[in-house]
Amino acid sequence: MAKDFNTMEDSNRSSNPSIHQVSQPSRRLLLKGGLAGTVTGLLGGLSGCASLAGGPALLGFKSVPVGTADTITVPEGYSAQVIAAWGEPVGLSGENPAFKFDASNSAAEQEAQLGMHHDGIHFFSQNGSTSGLLVMNHEYTDDGLLHPDGMATWTAAKVRKSQAAHGVSVIEVEQKGGRWEVVRPSPWARRITANTPMRLSGPAAGHALMKTAADPSGTRVLGTLNNCASGITPWGTYLTSEENFINYFKGPDQPSEHERRWGLRKGEPAGYRWAEHDARFDAAKNPNEPNRFGWLVEIDPFNPSSTPVKRTALGRGAHEGATVAVTKDGRAVVYSGEDARFEYIYKFVSRDKVKPGGAAANAELLDHGTLYVARFDADGRGRWLPLVQGQGPLTAAAGFADQGEVLVKARQASDALGATKMDRPEWIAVDAQGWVYCTLTNNSSRGADKQPVVDAANPRANNSMGHIIRWKEDGDFDGQAFAWNHFVLAGDPANERAEAKGNVKGDAFGCPDGLWTDARGVLWVQTDMSTSAMGKGDLKGLGHNAMLAADPRTGEIRRFLVGPAGCEITGATATPDGRTMFINIQHPGESPSERSDPKEPRKVSNWPDQNPNGRPRSATVVIRKLDGGVIGT
Ligand code: FEO
Ligand code: CA
Ligand code: CA
Repeated sequence: MAKDFNTMEDSNRSSNPSIHQVSQPSRRLLLKGGLAGTVTGLLGGLSGCASLAGGPALLGFKSVPVGTADTITVPEGYSAQVIAAWGEPVGLSGENPAFKFDASNSAAEQEAQLGMHHDGIHFFSQNGSTSGLLVMNHEYTDDGLLHPDGMATWTAAKVRKSQAAHGVSVIEVEQKGGRWEVVRPSPWARRITANTPMRLSGPAAGHALMKTAADPSGTRVLGTLNNCASGITPWGTYLTSEENFINYFKGPDQPSEHERRWGLRKGEPAGYRWAEHDARFDAAKNPNEPNRFGWLVEIDPFNPSSTPVKRTALGRGAHEGATVAVTKDGRAVVYSGEDARFEYIYKFVSRDKVKPGGAAANAELLDHGTLYVARFDADGRGRWLPLVQGQGPLTAAAGFADQGEVLVKARQASDALGATKMDRPEWIAVDAQGWVYCTLTNNSSRGADKQPVVDAANPRANNSMGHIIRWKEDGDFDGQAFAWNHFVLAGDPANERAEAKGNVKGDAFGCPDGLWTDARGVLWVQTDMSTSAMGKGDLKGLGHNAMLAADPRTGEIRRFLVGPAGCEITGATATPDGRTMFINIQHPGESPSERSDPKEPRKVSNWPDQNPNGRPRSATVVIRKLDGGVIGT
């Protein structure tokens, strides 16, 4: 999601140490003097990888230029095919309502169709590389495009349709003659929306903070929303996040300290207006309902009747997503970050080992373990600080009565522990060498008046371009400490502002968001320059949002794909043979205003249909090489 940098949540007013605010004066000078020197020389970033360089070249394609066309551009020798656009039926048996280009599909029809604003995606193979399930998130809605007259009138039916266009889709896809199509009907097809019954599990399930009038048990919740990045588990399930969930809630006149820390503000947020017709989203009436969002949700795509589970042991946050690694002795480690300005990076280490036997055998694996938050120290080292009730400052006297409360109030717990305030953590990826990468997309507030100053991990004031940080754990993924450096500071050398030049070894880019490591070790980076900032200021030379490929061994970065107007690129997955890649194009046609103008739905973009009476639609793009080769070679 990137409507406007300046509306991104910024709720961390904690006075936690800012040990970095006194980061070494010598470093500060170096940062002023030359960013490239800082990263490669001081932090040992890319230069430290030189010994890893060698072997066959990872990147074999010719990079595409910066672009501003209302289309998808891929390298020579590649094709891009659009499937699974918003509004197409997912393939439920007997329910295949066609998309109506005037957006007049009903809420009930939308519940059987792909949602809006595709985000994280994963291909679960069923038959090698020729068929499988695509599971994808629908992050949010643009109600200016979702209804024929947008939000000019506002009804319960429109709220219901907006809720139906959120959540997750499961579709079956198969390849026929090099082209992919959605299988309809399919026994696997499923829509999970903002009203799908879910179960809460783990230490916060049933907690007093989770109980509502509609659910006195505190264990049953309806729906998931603002699902951004995707993750998968080794036992074959899908993890989806609940990112900017607070934006859906109407706040009371005087929000509590807890509510303020989680970004809840007085009154109705401008975007969704659900509370006007669904009191569940009125936090004055249902003050605990926001506590039931912000969790990582586990879905078993191979069991269409299974109940999705919100795993509270992983902590509450405006999570971008979750990425799973496995320790040598078989325990799951789940990395996640909160995409909000000055929030934190987390990891969860499971108590138990992953068992053979798929989802059923690991149904409680993510309910038991230890959650940690990251502190990045100025010397290139870091510590994982445990969010465990009774340890350190996390006492009952300090407001953490039990582990459930620690997890519901993970931000406050992290404040108390002195975690490092980051520049909007987005996707996380792990490479074959054990490096864990996290995109920090941007933070225009870094270094601003009364805001945290630069620190070693977040080294640029008014960080308009973002960066990618990476760390390697001491020992194994469950390590209590780590060594970190910057993989790259995004930027454009043509910029005059020193902080916006970056140190990219290759094609310029800004605002990294999506991040995924493929089977060959290529690190794919997707950008999310906000619509309000794109094409202007520090981003003026970067055109539309793009996807780039990075060679982690050499640091080289090449632009692979450029998207249509007003979109961001997000989500990446591939078939096991690496010859088909699926990505998502989100919010083509977005304008800087809060919602699109329904009178001019094609003002910015008409991708992908170019229908004279249509409207832009998020969609999945299938990328193939014309010679059938492996993507990226
Ligand atoms: Fe939904 Fe942080 O992007
Ligand atoms: Ca983003
Ligand atoms: Ca994102």
